[in-house]
Amino acid sequence: MDKIINKLISNGFVKGEQKIIDIKDLEELTKIILLLRSQQIEKGEKSPFLKLVGSSDRLDILLEKIISNKYVKENLKQILGERYLLMSPSARFSDEGDSGLEIHQDAVGETGLLFLLTDQKEGQTVMVKASHRFPGRISNILSWGSKKLINIISSLYFSITGNAGDHYYWFHKTWHGRKPNTINGESSITLFFPFFPFAANRFDIAEKNQSSILKTRNQYLKNIMSQKIPYNDKVLEIPICLKIEKFDIKALLNINFIIFLLKISILEVLFSPVRILRLLRKIKF
Ligand SMILES: [Fe+2]
Repeated sequence: MDKIINKLISNGFVKGEQKIIDIKDLEELTKIILLLRSQQIEKGEKSPFLKLVGSSDRLDILLEKIISNKYVKENLKQILGERYLLMSPSARFSDEGDSGLEIHQDAVGETGLLFLLTDQKEGQTVMVKASHRFPGRISNILSWGSKKLINIISSLYFSITGNAGDHYYWFHKTWHGRKPNTINGESSITLFFPFFPFAANRFDIAEKNQSSILKTRNQYLKNIMSQKIPYNDKVLEIPICLKIEKFDIKALLNINFIIFLLKISILEVLFSPVRILRLLRKIKF
């Protein structure tokens, strides 16, 4: 197995090693997305997200170039299996005053391609190394998972940094969040391409993609956002992104996972007063 896939399995995320679009395409992509953003703001829309597919033919071609890049396709195939579904991709803007996002985990099988559209020296998206190896989904009950605490305990997190055009692969099961953007924080734009293996049978996602599918004339995007055939486990092998759902006892021999367990145990003790305060607030006297 490739070094990059091994690193993803070990850490829960990995930075891609090659450039996946050339500088001219990157500049054009940035220009189009900034124009769409200014139109969004003019309309008074305050969402930090922007759906990308179907806004312009040229943008769709550039999105296709990213996800159909030979290197990306090879990696996605190894992680998600032969057949996979793209959930409608979006741009995430982080500007001054952005309140961030608490530590959380997403759906079973969900695997992302994260693309930095701007240089991100500090990094806004944060991930907890090896956390995907912990069984189930417990990040929502952590005493220290609040977005207010992300900047205070930044040493626990890995910040997703890099230059415009860099990309990462990551399991959405990995505990992740977003730092609040303080007054001196950098503005950033990140593109999110979430994928599901056909094996997850997420027909509901394919259904939600319909509005984007109808908006675009790009056949590649239409196809990759659709799933009509149910997954047949006699034909297709269980992909890596689903295998990680099952706890592997060998994880206890993995140094990153041991460090992760130590860190979260210490934090749970340190932040136990926060947990007690939350409990007290729930109790009606
Ligand atoms: Fe998420």
